[in-house]
Amino acid sequence: MAKTIIVSNRLPIRIEKEEEELIYKTSEGGLATGLGSIYKENDNIWIGWPGISLEKEEEQEVEEELINRNMRPVFLSESEVQEFYLGFSNQTLWPAFHYFIHHMRFKEKEWIAYMQANQKFADAISKWLEPDDTIWVHDYQLMLVPELLRNKFPNVTIGFFQHIPFPSYEVFRMIPWRKKLLNGLLGADFIGFHTYDDMRHFLSSCHRLAGYSYNRNQILVKNRLVEVDSLPMGIDYDKYAESAGSQLAKAKEISYRDSLGPQDLILSMDRLDYSKGIPGRLRAFEKFLGEYPEYQGRVSMFLIVVPSRDKVPSYKELKEEVEFLVGHINGKYGTINYVPIHFYYRSFPLDDLSAFYRMCKIAMITPNRDGMNLVSKEYIASRENVDGVLILSEMAGASKELSDALLVNPNDEAQMVLSIKTALEMPLSEQKRRMSSMQKTVQKYTIFQWVDLFINNLKDLKKRQLAMA
Ligand code: UDP
Ligand code: G6P
Repeated sequence: MAKTIIVSNRLPIRIEKEEEELIYKTSEGGLATGLGSIYKENDNIWIGWPGISLEKEEEQEVEEELINRNMRPVFLSESEVQEFYLGFSNQTLWPAFHYFIHHMRFKEKEWIAYMQANQKFADAISKWLEPDDTIWVHDYQLMLVPELLRNKFPNVTIGFFQHIPFPSYEVFRMIPWRKKLLNGLLGADFIGFHTYDDMRHFLSSCHRLAGYSYNRNQILVKNRLVEVDSLPMGIDYDKYAESAGSQLAKAKEISYRDSLGPQDLILSMDRLDYSKGIPGRLRAFEKFLGEYPEYQGRVSMFLIVVPSRDKVPSYKELKEEVEFLVGHINGKYGTINYVPIHFYYRSFPLDDLSAFYRMCKIAMITPNRDGMNLVSKEYIASRENVDGVLILSEMAGASKELSDALLVNPNDEAQMVLSIKTALEMPLSEQKRRMSSMQKTVQKYTIFQWVDLFINNLKDLKKRQLAMA
C-alpha cells in the first residue's frame, strides 16, 4: 500500500542520555506535537533527527527501536548540528523569517553544511521511497529537499509545508542564497503556508528574485504546475479537551491550587525564543502591577519557558534577560505570601499542561512573530467551562482565525497593559461568548482536517498535472 513519508528535521521523539542510558522523550514545538497525532496511521513513516549525536552502535540500537515506532532516524554529526542546525537553520533562516534581522548571520560554511544536510535527508528519503508514495517535507530546515528529490525522481509526488512565517521580499532578498532556496522549494508540487500573507510573500519572492511569473496561486516550473496555498494548521481538539476534562488534570489543578492560593493566574507558555516576546510580556506585567496596585497580591503570572536551542548565543542571552526580569519583578512586588511570577524553565507532559490550561483564567500569548502558535489553540480546547480570556498577538498566525481573542500589538506596551486589566475584569458572559466562538473554530478546523486538506490538494494537483502532460 502506498504510504506517506513525513520528513522534518526533528522527529516527534527526542533522545536524551542519562547516565549512559538512552531516554526517549516527546519533542516540544508545534510541528512535532501537531503531526504527532497522525503519522502512526497505515504504513506511514516519519523521517527525521532524534536530537542527539551518538556512537555508531548506539545509532543502530536507536534505529531498531524507532523503526518499531514508524520512524526512521537521520543522524547528524556534532559539526552538522553546529553548522546546519544551530548555524544556517537557526541563525540565518529563523531570524530572517521572523524579521529579527539583527540576529541574522551569513556564513558560507554554514550554507554548505545546510546543502549537505539537505542532501543527507534526501538520501534517507530515497532509501525508503516506493512507487506511488507521497513525500511530505516540513519546514525551513529542509527547503532544498524537494528539488533534490525532484531531480532524482521527476514524477514523484512532493508536498512542502512551512511552519514558520515567510518574510516579505525585502527581508528574504537579504539572504545571499535566496534564489537557490526558492528553487529548492519549487521542487515540490504543492507548497502550504499558515497564512495568506506568507503565501503572498513567497509568490512575490519567486517573481522578483527568481523570475517566475505566477497566476493567482499557480507557478509553472519547467512546464510543471506548482500550487501554493494558505492552510492554517489545527490541533487534535478532542485530545486536549479530553485531557483537560480528565480526573488526573482536575486532581493536579486542585493540588496546585492548594499551594498557590486563590489569586487569578495569567499563563505564559513558550519555547525559549526571542520571537515569542517573553521580555515584553514581563515588562507589561510589571507595568500593570505598578499602574494598578490594587491588583498586587491578587494576580500572578504562571511563566513556563521550555528550553530550546540554548547553544545559540541570542537564546542564551534571552534566558539571562528573562531570569533577570523575573527576579526584578518578584523582588519589587513580591511579599511573604505573594509571588508575582511563578517561573519554570523546563518542559512538562500533557497532564500538567492540561492542569495549567485549566487553572489560568488568562493566557497571554504575545509573540513578536509566530508562524501559527498552537499553545493558543490548546488553551481554548482545554477550557471545559467555556470561560477564560486569551490575549493574543496580532503577529501570530493564529490571530487570523481567533478574532474573538483580545488582540494586541506586542510593541504597544500601553495596549498590552490595558489588555491585562480588560481580561481580568471581563464579565463572565463576554468571556463565554468569545470562548465559545473560538472553541467552535478550533474544533472545526482540526489537525485531521488540515492533513486531509493538504493531502487532497496535493493529490488533486497531481491529477491535473497528468492531464496537462
Ligand atoms: N509544549 C510541550 N511541553 C511544554 C510546553 C509546550 O509539549 O512544557 C508544546 C505545546 O503543547 C505546543 C508546542 O509545544 O504543542 C508549542 O507549539 P507552538 O506552535 O505554540 O510554538 P513553537 O514551539 O512551535 O514555536
Ligand atoms: C518550531 C519549528 C519546528 C521546530 C520547533 C522546535 O515549531 O517550526 O521546525 O522543530 O520550533 O525547535 P527545535 O529547534 O527544537 O526543533
